[in-house]
Amino acid sequence: MVSTFPAPTSVKLSHVRLPIRSLHPQIVEWRRRIHQHPELGFQEKLTAKFISQKLQEWGIEHQTGIAETGIVAVIEGSKFKSNKVLAIRADIDALPIQELNEVPYRSQHEGLMHACGHDGHTAIALGTAHYLQQHREHFVGTIKIIFQPAEEGPGGAKPMIEAGVLKNPDVDAIIGLHLWNNLPIGTVGVRTGPLMAAVECFDCEVLGKGGHGAMPHQTVDSILVAAQIVNALQTIVARNVNPIDSAVVTVGELHAGTKRNVIADTARMSATVRYFNPALAGFFQQRIEEIIAGVCQSHGAKYNFKYWPLYAPVINDATITELVRSVAQEVIETPVGIVPECQTMGGEDMSFFLQEVPGCYFFLGSANQAQNLAFPHHHPRFDFDETALAMGVEIFVRCVEKFCN
Ligand code: NI
Repeated sequence: MVSTFPAPTSVKLSHVRLPIRSLHPQIVEWRRRIHQHPELGFQEKLTAKFISQKLQEWGIEHQTGIAETGIVAVIEGSKFKSNKVLAIRADIDALPIQELNEVPYRSQHEGLMHACGHDGHTAIALGTAHYLQQHREHFVGTIKIIFQPAEEGPGGAKPMIEAGVLKNPDVDAIIGLHLWNNLPIGTVGVRTGPLMAAVECFDCEVLGKGGHGAMPHQTVDSILVAAQIVNALQTIVARNVNPIDSAVVTVGELHAGTKRNVIADTARMSATVRYFNPALAGFFQQRIEEIIAGVCQSHGAKYNFKYWPLYAPVINDATITELVRSVAQEVIETPVGIVPECQTMGGEDMSFFLQEVPGCYFFLGSANQAQNLAFPHHHPRFDFDETALAMGVEIFVRCVEKFCN
Protein backbone atom coordinates (compact mmCIF):
# COMPACT_ATOMS: atom_id res chain seq x y z
CA MET A 1 0.00 0.00 0.00
CA VAL A 2 1.31 3.46 -0.90
CA SER A 3 1.29 5.85 1.99
CA THR A 4 0.29 9.46 1.52
CA PHE A 5 0.68 10.52 5.12
CA PRO A 6 2.46 13.80 5.70
CA ALA A 7 5.86 13.30 7.30
CA PRO A 8 6.39 15.05 10.63
CA THR A 9 8.01 18.44 10.19
CA SER A 10 11.09 17.84 12.33
CA VAL A 11 12.58 15.63 14.97
CA LYS A 12 13.45 17.95 17.79
CA LEU A 13 15.73 15.54 19.61
CA SER A 14 19.20 16.72 18.78
CA HIS A 15 20.95 13.67 20.22
CA VAL A 16 19.45 11.36 17.64
CA ARG A 17 22.07 10.73 14.94
CA LEU A 18 21.46 12.00 11.44
CA PRO A 19 20.87 8.65 9.65
CA ILE A 20 18.13 7.78 12.17
CA ARG A 21 16.59 11.24 11.87
CA SER A 22 16.61 10.79 8.09
CA LEU A 23 14.92 7.41 8.51
CA HIS A 24 12.29 8.85 10.84
CA PRO A 25 9.67 9.75 8.18
CA GLN A 26 9.76 6.14 7.01
CA ILE A 27 9.49 4.78 10.55
CA VAL A 28 6.42 7.00 10.99
CA GLU A 29 5.01 5.69 7.73
CA TRP A 30 5.46 2.04 8.88
CA ARG A 31 3.86 2.84 12.22
CA ARG A 32 0.86 4.46 10.55
CA ARG A 33 0.49 1.64 8.07
CA ILE A 34 0.48 -0.89 10.95
CA HIS A 35 -1.89 1.38 12.87
CA GLN A 36 -4.39 1.20 10.00
CA HIS A 37 -4.44 -2.59 10.14
CA PRO A 38 -4.71 -3.64 13.80
CA GLU A 39 -5.01 -7.37 14.53
CA LEU A 40 -5.69 -9.28 17.74
CA GLY A 41 -3.26 -11.69 19.41
CA PHE A 42 -2.19 -14.69 17.28
CA GLN A 43 -4.12 -13.23 14.33
CA GLU A 44 -1.44 -10.70 13.31
CA LYS A 45 -1.21 -12.09 9.76
CA LEU A 46 -1.11 -8.79 7.83
CA THR A 47 1.24 -7.29 10.40
CA ALA A 48 3.60 -10.28 10.21
CA LYS A 49 3.49 -10.19 6.42
CA PHE A 50 4.38 -6.50 6.45
CA ILE A 51 7.30 -7.05 8.85
CA SER A 52 8.58 -10.00 6.82
CA GLN A 53 8.34 -8.05 3.54
CA LYS A 54 10.40 -5.21 5.00
CA LEU A 55 13.04 -7.56 6.43
CA GLN A 56 13.27 -9.37 3.11
CA GLU A 57 13.57 -6.07 1.25
CA TRP A 58 16.56 -5.16 3.44
CA GLY A 59 18.18 -8.59 3.13
CA ILE A 60 17.72 -9.50 6.80
CA GLU A 61 17.62 -13.20 7.63
CA HIS A 62 14.46 -14.04 9.58
CA GLN A 63 12.10 -16.81 10.54
CA THR A 64 8.31 -16.40 10.41
CA GLY A 65 5.39 -18.34 11.89
CA ILE A 66 6.96 -18.80 15.33
CA ALA A 67 4.13 -19.26 17.87
CA GLU A 68 1.63 -18.65 15.02
CA THR A 69 2.51 -15.09 13.95
CA GLY A 70 5.83 -14.31 15.63
CA ILE A 71 9.02 -13.42 13.74
CA VAL A 72 12.69 -13.48 14.70
CA ALA A 73 15.25 -11.55 12.68
CA VAL A 74 19.00 -12.05 13.06
CA ILE A 75 21.62 -9.42 12.23
CA GLU A 76 25.33 -10.02 12.67
CA GLY A 77 27.75 -7.20 13.30
CA SER A 78 30.96 -7.21 11.27
CA LYS A 79 33.26 -4.95 13.29
CA PHE A 80 35.08 -7.99 14.65
CA LYS A 81 34.15 -11.46 15.90
CA SER A 82 32.19 -11.85 19.13
CA ASN A 83 29.88 -14.52 20.50
CA LYS A 84 27.68 -12.05 22.34
CA VAL A 85 23.98 -12.11 21.51
CA LEU A 86 21.55 -9.31 22.40
CA ALA A 87 17.82 -9.65 21.79
CA ILE A 88 15.41 -6.78 21.23
CA ARG A 89 11.73 -7.54 21.77
CA ALA A 90 8.70 -5.79 20.27
CA ASP A 91 5.04 -6.78 20.65
CA ILE A 92 2.85 -6.50 17.56
CA ASP A 93 -0.80 -7.05 18.59
CA ALA A 94 -3.77 -4.67 18.93
CA LEU A 95 -6.94 -4.44 21.05
CA PRO A 96 -10.69 -4.92 20.57
CA ILE A 97 -11.42 -1.18 20.78
CA GLN A 98 -13.23 1.03 18.25
CA GLU A 99 -10.91 3.93 17.42
CA LEU A 100 -12.35 7.42 17.94
CA ASN A 101 -9.36 9.36 16.58
CA GLU A 102 -10.05 11.22 13.36
CA VAL A 103 -6.60 10.99 11.83
CA PRO A 104 -5.74 10.02 8.24
CA TYR A 105 -4.14 6.83 9.53
CA ARG A 106 -7.07 5.72 11.73
CA SER A 107 -7.86 2.02 12.05
CA GLN A 108 -9.51 0.49 9.01
CA HIS A 109 -10.52 -2.62 10.94
CA GLU A 110 -13.93 -2.25 12.57
CA GLY A 111 -13.75 -2.62 16.36
CA LEU A 112 -9.97 -3.09 16.44
CA MET A 113 -7.31 -0.57 17.36
CA HIS A 114 -3.64 -0.18 18.22
CA ALA A 115 -4.56 1.57 21.47
CA CYS A 116 -1.46 0.61 23.43
CA GLY A 117 1.33 1.72 21.09
CA HIS A 118 2.43 -1.72 19.89
CA ASP A 119 2.29 -0.32 16.34
CA GLY A 120 5.04 2.05 17.50
CA HIS A 121 7.01 -0.77 19.13
CA THR A 122 6.92 -2.70 15.85
CA ALA A 123 8.00 0.38 13.85
CA ILE A 124 10.87 1.09 16.30
CA ALA A 125 12.06 -2.52 15.99
CA LEU A 126 11.88 -2.28 12.19
CA GLY A 127 13.79 1.03 12.25
CA THR A 128 16.43 -0.56 14.48
CA ALA A 129 16.72 -3.58 12.16
CA HIS A 130 17.05 -1.32 9.12
CA TYR A 131 19.74 0.85 10.71
CA LEU A 132 21.76 -2.08 12.11
CA GLN A 133 21.71 -3.95 8.81
CA GLN A 134 23.11 -0.90 7.06
CA HIS A 135 25.74 -0.24 9.74
CA ARG A 136 26.97 -3.72 10.54
CA GLU A 137 30.56 -2.49 10.65
CA HIS A 138 29.67 -0.40 13.73
CA PHE A 139 28.96 -3.30 16.09
CA VAL A 140 30.06 -6.79 17.02
CA GLY A 141 28.05 -9.84 18.02
CA THR A 142 24.60 -10.97 17.00
CA ILE A 143 21.34 -9.10 17.37
CA LYS A 144 18.05 -10.99 17.48
CA ILE A 145 14.95 -8.94 16.94
CA ILE A 146 11.87 -10.66 18.31
CA PHE A 147 8.46 -9.60 16.99
CA GLN A 148 6.07 -11.14 19.51
CA PRO A 149 2.33 -11.74 19.08
CA ALA A 150 -0.48 -11.54 21.63
CA GLU A 151 1.00 -9.46 24.44
CA GLU A 152 -2.50 -8.26 25.34
CA GLY A 153 -3.46 -11.87 25.94
CA PRO A 154 -3.29 -14.76 26.05
CA GLY A 155 0.47 -14.10 25.77
CA GLY A 156 2.92 -14.79 22.97
CA ALA A 157 6.18 -14.60 24.92
CA LYS A 158 5.90 -18.06 26.51
CA PRO A 159 5.16 -19.97 23.29
CA MET A 160 7.98 -18.08 21.53
CA ILE A 161 10.41 -19.08 24.29
CA GLU A 162 9.13 -22.68 24.06
CA ALA A 163 9.74 -22.52 20.30
CA GLY A 164 13.38 -21.75 21.09
CA VAL A 165 13.77 -18.08 20.15
CA LEU A 166 16.30 -17.53 22.95
CA LYS A 167 18.44 -20.45 21.74
CA ASN A 168 20.77 -21.13 18.86
CA PRO A 169 22.52 -18.77 19.11
CA ASP A 170 21.84 -18.39 22.83
CA VAL A 171 20.71 -14.94 23.89
CA ASP A 172 22.88 -13.29 26.61
CA ALA A 173 20.57 -10.39 27.38
CA ILE A 174 17.29 -8.88 26.23
CA ILE A 175 15.92 -5.35 26.08
CA GLY A 176 12.51 -3.96 25.22
CA LEU A 177 10.50 -0.79 25.61
CA HIS A 178 6.94 0.42 25.99
CA LEU A 179 5.87 3.78 24.63
CA TRP A 180 4.36 5.41 27.69
CA ASN A 181 1.75 8.14 27.76
CA ASN A 182 2.05 8.38 31.54
CA LEU A 183 5.37 10.13 30.82
CA PRO A 184 5.92 13.17 28.59
CA ILE A 185 7.92 12.96 25.37
CA GLY A 186 11.63 13.38 26.05
CA THR A 187 11.68 11.19 29.15
CA VAL A 188 12.62 7.58 29.87
CA GLY A 189 11.32 5.57 32.83
CA VAL A 190 13.90 2.97 33.80
CA ARG A 191 14.64 1.17 37.06
CA THR A 192 16.41 -1.89 38.41
CA GLY A 193 14.20 -4.59 39.95
CA PRO A 194 10.43 -4.80 39.60
CA LEU A 195 8.94 -2.51 36.94
CA MET A 196 5.57 -4.13 36.25
CA ALA A 197 3.41 -6.42 38.34
CA ALA A 198 2.59 -10.12 38.31
CA VAL A 199 -0.92 -10.71 36.94
CA GLU A 200 -3.11 -13.48 38.34
CA CYS A 201 -6.83 -14.10 37.83
CA PHE A 202 -9.67 -15.86 39.53
CA ASP A 203 -13.32 -16.68 38.95
CA CYS A 204 -15.63 -17.58 41.82
CA GLU A 205 -19.19 -18.82 41.84
CA VAL A 206 -21.10 -18.49 45.12
CA LEU A 207 -23.78 -21.18 45.28
CA GLY A 208 -26.60 -20.23 47.66
CA LYS A 209 -30.26 -21.18 47.69
CA GLY A 210 -32.77 -19.01 45.85
CA GLY A 211 -36.24 -18.06 46.97
CA HIS A 212 -38.76 -15.30 47.60
CA GLY A 213 -37.37 -11.87 48.44
CA ALA A 214 -39.89 -11.55 51.25
CA MET A 215 -38.96 -14.90 52.84
CA PRO A 216 -35.16 -14.76 53.25
CA HIS A 217 -35.20 -17.24 56.12
CA GLN A 218 -35.92 -19.99 53.59
CA THR A 219 -32.91 -19.09 51.41
CA VAL A 220 -29.13 -18.68 51.30
CA ASP A 221 -28.68 -15.26 49.71
CA SER A 222 -25.75 -15.52 47.26
CA ILE A 223 -25.65 -11.71 46.84
CA LEU A 224 -25.16 -11.15 50.55
CA VAL A 225 -22.44 -13.81 50.68
CA ALA A 226 -20.69 -12.44 47.58
CA ALA A 227 -20.78 -8.89 48.98
CA GLN A 228 -19.08 -10.08 52.17
CA ILE A 229 -16.46 -11.93 50.14
CA VAL A 230 -15.68 -8.78 48.10
CA ASN A 231 -15.28 -6.80 51.33
CA ALA A 232 -13.19 -9.44 53.06
CA LEU A 233 -10.85 -9.84 50.08
CA GLN A 234 -9.66 -6.26 50.63
CA THR A 235 -8.23 -7.27 54.00
CA ILE A 236 -5.58 -9.35 52.19
CA VAL A 237 -3.72 -6.28 50.92
CA ALA A 238 -4.59 -4.24 54.02
CA ARG A 239 -3.73 -6.86 56.66
CA ASN A 240 -1.88 -9.88 55.24
CA VAL A 241 0.63 -8.46 52.75
CA ASN A 242 3.69 -6.72 54.19
CA PRO A 243 2.90 -2.98 53.74
CA ILE A 244 6.35 -2.55 52.12
CA ASP A 245 5.13 -4.78 49.25
CA SER A 246 2.63 -3.32 46.78
CA ALA A 247 -0.35 -5.45 45.80
CA VAL A 248 -3.86 -5.10 44.39
CA VAL A 249 -6.95 -7.32 44.52
CA THR A 250 -9.67 -6.00 42.20
CA VAL A 251 -13.03 -7.70 41.76
CA GLY A 252 -13.96 -6.26 38.36
CA GLU A 253 -17.11 -8.28 37.76
CA LEU A 254 -19.96 -9.32 40.03
CA HIS A 255 -23.12 -10.72 38.51
CA ALA A 256 -26.20 -11.98 40.32
CA GLY A 257 -29.96 -11.78 40.38
CA THR A 258 -32.84 -11.47 37.97
CA LYS A 259 -35.58 -9.55 39.79
CA ARG A 260 -35.92 -7.25 42.80
CA ASN A 261 -38.09 -9.64 44.78
CA VAL A 262 -36.16 -12.82 44.04
CA ILE A 263 -33.22 -13.96 46.14
CA ALA A 264 -30.51 -15.08 43.73
CA ASP A 265 -29.18 -18.56 44.22
CA THR A 266 -25.91 -17.91 42.37
CA ALA A 267 -23.47 -14.99 42.25
CA ARG A 268 -20.41 -14.90 39.99
CA MET A 269 -17.31 -12.75 40.34
CA SER A 270 -14.16 -12.30 38.27
CA ALA A 271 -11.08 -10.63 39.63
CA THR A 272 -7.46 -9.71 39.01
CA VAL A 273 -4.54 -9.81 41.43
CA ARG A 274 -1.31 -7.80 41.07
CA TYR A 275 1.96 -7.79 43.00
CA PHE A 276 5.68 -7.20 42.50
CA ASN A 277 7.43 -9.48 44.99
CA PRO A 278 8.03 -12.93 43.40
CA ALA A 279 8.05 -14.41 46.93
CA LEU A 280 4.26 -13.80 46.99
CA ALA A 281 3.68 -16.35 44.23
CA GLY A 282 1.04 -18.81 45.47
CA PHE A 283 0.15 -16.68 48.48
CA PHE A 284 -2.89 -14.92 47.01
CA GLN A 285 -4.44 -18.07 45.61
CA GLN A 286 -4.31 -19.71 49.04
CA ARG A 287 -5.51 -16.69 51.04
CA ILE A 288 -8.33 -15.85 48.62
CA GLU A 289 -9.70 -19.37 48.72
CA GLU A 290 -9.47 -19.41 52.53
CA ILE A 291 -11.61 -16.26 52.68
CA ILE A 292 -14.14 -17.52 50.15
CA ALA A 293 -14.41 -20.89 51.91
CA GLY A 294 -14.74 -19.26 55.32
CA VAL A 295 -17.42 -16.74 54.34
CA CYS A 296 -19.39 -19.37 52.40
CA GLN A 297 -19.22 -21.83 55.27
CA SER A 298 -20.49 -19.27 57.78
CA HIS A 299 -23.58 -18.69 55.61
CA GLY A 300 -24.25 -22.23 54.44
CA ALA A 301 -23.25 -21.49 50.85
CA LYS A 302 -21.03 -23.54 48.57
CA TYR A 303 -18.62 -22.28 45.93
CA ASN A 304 -16.64 -23.03 42.80
CA PHE A 305 -13.22 -21.42 42.53
CA LYS A 306 -10.77 -21.22 39.65
CA TYR A 307 -7.43 -19.43 39.99
CA TRP A 308 -4.67 -19.07 37.43
CA PRO A 309 -1.45 -17.05 37.10
CA LEU A 310 -1.23 -15.09 33.84
CA TYR A 311 2.05 -13.10 33.76
CA ALA A 312 5.05 -13.04 36.11
CA PRO A 313 6.35 -9.68 37.40
CA VAL A 314 8.68 -7.76 35.07
CA ILE A 315 12.01 -7.65 36.91
CA ASN A 316 14.99 -5.79 35.49
CA ASP A 317 18.58 -6.92 35.85
CA ALA A 318 20.90 -4.35 37.48
CA THR A 319 23.74 -4.53 34.90
CA ILE A 320 21.57 -4.33 31.77
CA THR A 321 19.41 -1.63 33.37
CA GLU A 322 22.56 0.43 34.02
CA LEU A 323 23.45 0.03 30.34
CA VAL A 324 20.00 1.23 29.24
CA ARG A 325 20.04 4.08 31.74
CA SER A 326 23.44 5.37 30.62
CA VAL A 327 22.43 5.15 26.97
CA ALA A 328 19.07 6.84 27.58
CA GLN A 329 20.84 9.64 29.41
CA GLU A 330 22.90 10.30 26.29
CA VAL A 331 19.85 10.34 24.04
CA ILE A 332 17.47 12.50 26.02
CA GLU A 333 18.33 16.13 26.48
CA THR A 334 18.21 16.67 30.23
CA PRO A 335 19.11 14.56 33.25
CA VAL A 336 15.63 15.14 34.69
CA GLY A 337 14.35 13.18 31.69
CA ILE A 338 15.37 9.93 33.41
CA VAL A 339 12.49 8.90 35.68
CA PRO A 340 13.96 6.37 38.11
CA GLU A 341 10.94 5.41 40.20
CA CYS A 342 8.61 4.55 37.37
CA GLN A 343 6.55 1.50 38.26
CA THR A 344 3.08 0.31 37.40
CA MET A 345 0.78 -2.50 38.56
CA GLY A 346 0.06 -3.12 34.88
CA GLY A 347 1.39 -6.44 33.55
CA GLU A 348 3.52 -7.52 30.58
CA ASP A 349 4.61 -10.90 29.30
CA MET A 350 8.09 -9.45 28.65
CA SER A 351 8.47 -10.90 32.15
CA PHE A 352 8.89 -14.43 30.77
CA PHE A 353 11.87 -13.40 28.62
CA LEU A 354 13.36 -11.69 31.70
CA GLN A 355 12.96 -14.92 33.70
CA GLU A 356 15.13 -16.71 31.12
CA VAL A 357 17.88 -14.14 30.50
CA PRO A 358 18.95 -10.91 32.23
CA GLY A 359 17.53 -7.81 30.65
CA CYS A 360 15.77 -4.51 30.94
CA TYR A 361 12.31 -3.34 29.99
CA PHE A 362 11.77 0.43 30.07
CA PHE A 363 9.20 3.12 29.41
CA LEU A 364 9.75 5.65 26.65
CA GLY A 365 7.75 8.83 27.35
CA SER A 366 5.34 9.53 24.48
CA ALA A 367 2.68 11.95 25.74
CA ASN A 368 2.37 15.44 24.30
CA GLN A 369 -0.37 17.50 26.01
CA ALA A 370 0.07 20.46 23.65
CA GLN A 371 -0.70 18.26 20.65
CA ASN A 372 -3.53 16.45 22.43
CA LEU A 373 -1.53 13.23 22.38
CA ALA A 374 -1.88 12.28 26.00
CA PHE A 375 -4.87 9.94 26.27
CA PRO A 376 -4.18 6.89 28.42
CA HIS A 377 -3.31 3.50 26.99
CA HIS A 378 -6.33 1.40 25.92
CA HIS A 379 -8.42 4.58 25.43
CA PRO A 380 -10.29 4.87 22.09
CA ARG A 381 -8.48 8.20 21.53
CA PHE A 382 -5.02 6.89 22.44
CA ASP A 383 -2.25 8.23 20.21
CA PHE A 384 1.33 9.29 20.91
CA ASP A 385 4.02 11.77 19.89
CA GLU A 386 5.79 10.02 17.02
CA THR A 387 9.04 11.85 17.81
CA ALA A 388 9.46 9.04 20.34
CA LEU A 389 9.94 6.55 17.49
CA ALA A 390 13.32 8.00 16.48
CA MET A 391 14.34 8.19 20.13
CA GLY A 392 13.46 4.54 20.62
CA VAL A 393 15.60 3.50 17.64
CA GLU A 394 18.52 5.63 18.84
CA ILE A 395 18.36 4.07 22.32
CA PHE A 396 18.21 0.51 20.94
CA VAL A 397 21.08 1.16 18.50
CA ARG A 398 23.26 2.65 21.23
CA CYS A 399 22.48 -0.33 23.49
CA VAL A 400 23.64 -2.66 20.69
CA GLU A 401 26.86 -0.69 20.15
CA LYS A 402 27.62 -0.54 23.86
CA PHE A 403 26.56 -4.09 24.82
CA CYS A 404 28.56 -5.98 22.24
CA ASN A 405 31.68 -3.79 22.12
NI1 NI B 1 1.06 -2.53 25.78
